[in-house]
Amino acid sequence: MTTHGQTLISESLRGDFPILQEEMHGKPLVYLDSAASAQKPQVVIDALSDFYEKGYANIHRGVYKLSQDATEAYEHARSVVRDFLGAAEAREIIFTRGTTEAINLVAQTFGRSALGQGDEILITEMEHHSNIVPWQMICEQTGAKLVVGPMDDSGTLLLKNFAELINERTKLVAVSHVSNALGTINPVREIIELAHAQNIPVLLDGAQAAPHMPVDVQALDVDFYTFSGHKVYGPTGIGVLYGKAALLEAMPPYQGGGDMILSVSFEKTIYNEIPHKFEAGTPDIAGVIGLGVALEYLQDIGMDRIAAHEAALLSYATEKLEAIPQVSIIGTAKEKAGVISFAVEGIHPHDLGTIFDQDGVAIRAGHHCAQPVMERFDVPATVRASFALYNTRDEIDALVLGIEKSIEVFS
Ligand SMILES: Cc1ncc(COP(=O)(O)O)c(C=O)c1O
Repeated sequence: MTTHGQTLISESLRGDFPILQEEMHGKPLVYLDSAASAQKPQVVIDALSDFYEKGYANIHRGVYKLSQDATEAYEHARSVVRDFLGAAEAREIIFTRGTTEAINLVAQTFGRSALGQGDEILITEMEHHSNIVPWQMICEQTGAKLVVGPMDDSGTLLLKNFAELINERTKLVAVSHVSNALGTINPVREIIELAHAQNIPVLLDGAQAAPHMPVDVQALDVDFYTFSGHKVYGPTGIGVLYGKAALLEAMPPYQGGGDMILSVSFEKTIYNEIPHKFEAGTPDIAGVIGLGVALEYLQDIGMDRIAAHEAALLSYATEKLEAIPQVSIIGTAKEKAGVISFAVEGIHPHDLGTIFDQDGVAIRAGHHCAQPVMERFDVPATVRASFALYNTRDEIDALVLGIEKSIEVFS
């Protein structure tokens, strides 16, 4: 099953992804931008069109079969997410538009009720903007303060410094499980233990972890966990907030409207139970169903196998890139997921991206919604290649060829 430490899962699975048969500028598409968004397997595409063709109705309200079946499919997907995350109960799974909305939900509900003047929220220096800005907004509203734990030059969180920043004013610790810009896998178990020792809840931004490794929220004992459907090979516009039931029950609702109520009168509204309390209005029903199918697809493959495959790709790519003297890798933590950010001496990342594109190689060039990370490493932008279950070593070779070609063009 393995050659040179690389499992061959991509060989058998590439055919599941119709877009990978496409060409760009007359060359086979080499898609190395899955950290931005993953491509979709046929089963997910089929689930969406089947639902619209044969099963479509609004949920939770209908007395007729079509609506009841749609409700069942929607709630089945919630059970799939529960299983995927190892959550204790399906009612701990809230559907949101994505990681961004899930974090905003916690900021505006938990944050609104738990934070006051002088309280602190502790994050890290390597967060995506969506795990920075919602906290800044709630800090402005409540007088709380955002505190930032530092990392070293490899992009590794300085855990001792981080621990020293936890104190009696800290009301929440919010950390990315995996950094999107650097690939660093944070020591989340230790972080959770440190915070829980002082009775502080922890939110993990799992946008870059859920697609790439097994996640067990009960084993981690994490309080909130967020991820996005489109990064786990599911549809756009859908995501997940996991929260421990007791915390979710104590939080005020996020948005008001249909479905999130038990009864409404002009005098008093009684809110619905969780999870419905946090799902106001008609949700993205098709998106939820598609997400459930995507997660079942991943579970059939096995998250351990996916993690091993991507680890093999990362070490192959790292070795190849390290061999090019003009390349410097940004983010060299010991524990990394399949993300490799780099700079090439004398060539702007956007120019590299454009040259690669001519050969069908799709990578990301920019600040990756992590401007403080760029500032920390004193670069305006990086090139980022990110790996998924369908990538191959040949595709990394195509990237390396693109880098060598660019160096030649610019020298
Ligand atoms: C670490 C991390 N957090 C949050 C997000 C935001 O996810 P979304 O845009 O799907 O809400 C991303 C997206 O790139 C991410 O990489």
